[in-house]
Amino acid sequence: IRRSKVAHLLKETGFGKEVNVKGWVRTRRGNKFVNFIALNDGSSIHNLQIVADTTKFGDELLRRIATGSAISVNGTLNESEGSGQNVEIQAAEIEVIGECSPDHYPLQPKKHSLEFLREIAHLRFRTNTFGAITRVRHAMIFAVHQFFSNKGFYNIHTPIITASDAEGAGEMFRVTTLDLNNPPKTEDGEIDYSQDFFGKSTHLTVSGQLEGELAAMGMSDIYTFGPTFRAENSNTTRHLAEFWMIEPEMAFYDLNDNMDLAEEFTKYLINYALAHCAEDLAFLSKRLQEEEKNKKADERSMELLEKLRFVVENDYARITYSEAIDILMNSKPHKKGKFQYQITGFGSDLQAEHERFLVEKHFKKPVILTDYPMSIKAFYMKQSDDGKTVRAMDVLFPQIGEIIGGSQREDNYDKLLERMRVLNLPEKEMYWYLDTRRFGSVPHSGFGLGFERLMLFVTGMTNIRDVIPFPRSPKNAEF
Ligand code: 4AD
Ligand code: MG
Repeated sequence: IRRSKVAHLLKETGFGKEVNVKGWVRTRRGNKFVNFIALNDGSSIHNLQIVADTTKFGDELLRRIATGSAISVNGTLNESEGSGQNVEIQAAEIEVIGECSPDHYPLQPKKHSLEFLREIAHLRFRTNTFGAITRVRHAMIFAVHQFFSNKGFYNIHTPIITASDAEGAGEMFRVTTLDLNNPPKTEDGEIDYSQDFFGKSTHLTVSGQLEGELAAMGMSDIYTFGPTFRAENSNTTRHLAEFWMIEPEMAFYDLNDNMDLAEEFTKYLINYALAHCAEDLAFLSKRLQEEEKNKKADERSMELLEKLRFVVENDYARITYSEAIDILMNSKPHKKGKFQYQITGFGSDLQAEHERFLVEKHFKKPVILTDYPMSIKAFYMKQSDDGKTVRAMDVLFPQIGEIIGGSQREDNYDKLLERMRVLNLPEKEMYWYLDTRRFGSVPHSGFGLGFERLMLFVTGMTNIRDVIPFPRSPKNAEF
């Protein structure tokens, strides 16, 4: 008999059918007449109940069916009354594939804290919480490709090793094959990267955007979905050193078109999760509510599904950075408190607390902020006529703050070159980027959605290390 997945069997109605199922035991309980085994194979938040006659299988075998062990079961699919599910399996044969000693297995059949699970990250996939997160993550990846494919966008793989710095946003991870204990030196005593593998110094990419722009200047509408790397030493719950970013880039789009796409895209993803991940989201929501109970009333956050609907059912507010600064300078975030970081005026960079205030307290809907000061944004953004701002946009979400960063791009060759000179960017080495503005330049725009920020929002998790299977953060690259 071919192996069936638990998720599939739980929906089956062909009672009396012979089936095989394999998975890991969550719990076993029983008496001298009957044993009940809860089996999970990662395909569902629900376990499949296996019913085994105690005398038929005997104590010796049953004892080996401990929490964490892997088994294969042949049996009959039956309608179930007691298990909380519609179906159960009456076992005919059970094989223990991999034993698991209860004395050493760190996962017990109870709820573990997320902190504890982070310490045993190699076993997290065996838990309901990470099973749910992993399935939602998969669904979101799929929805990203579906959204863009339906719109006629092409997926472009951009390089992971690169010589350019797209963002100037923080430290980059250097890639080298030189022996850094004994590196070749230039006459000035600097490390001579001309002798390195690529003949120049290279890094892991911080963004696929610049290469994405090259593709858009021929393919019209493209998107990247790749890993990006930032060595910012920010040990926060919202930053990773290695994270995944989705970066659409569109020719003939201005900032308004860009905002429309960002709003449509994020709503599509959340609607997709609501439609396709209902059981997992219900589980995560319940888990979250249990944690919320321990918090003070004014620190509790919105219920998960309510929060997701909050995004899809509202038109996003669209305001300029300057308007936001005015609002923030005239607001008190809570009864007697101040913001942790004070906004001093035009030019202040917004922190997550400000972004969240605008969304959660002031507008009570997602917010798109535009027209940021040129001084705090990247070199490629289109300069406005006021000489002070750029056509930037950040999309702000409840709980998260900035979930998307993007802009209309500077399509004027002279202005772009001038800005690169002011910022000391290597114009000769970036000839390929400048060329797009020399040969058939068009207005174009794009943005980057941080995939793990999206995952935080959709799952309601509060630590970004819990929504990526193998988090990379300072002092953390276990496997
Ligand atoms: O705002 P950022 O730095 O924008 C870019 O990289 C542009 N090149 C995007 C573009 O226009 N094509 O990053 C985009 C998004 C942020 O809004 C945030 O969601 C996420 O990437 N992000 C991070 N996520 C996790 N860990 C980090 N260290 C992140 N840094 C940025
Ligand atoms: Mg940003």
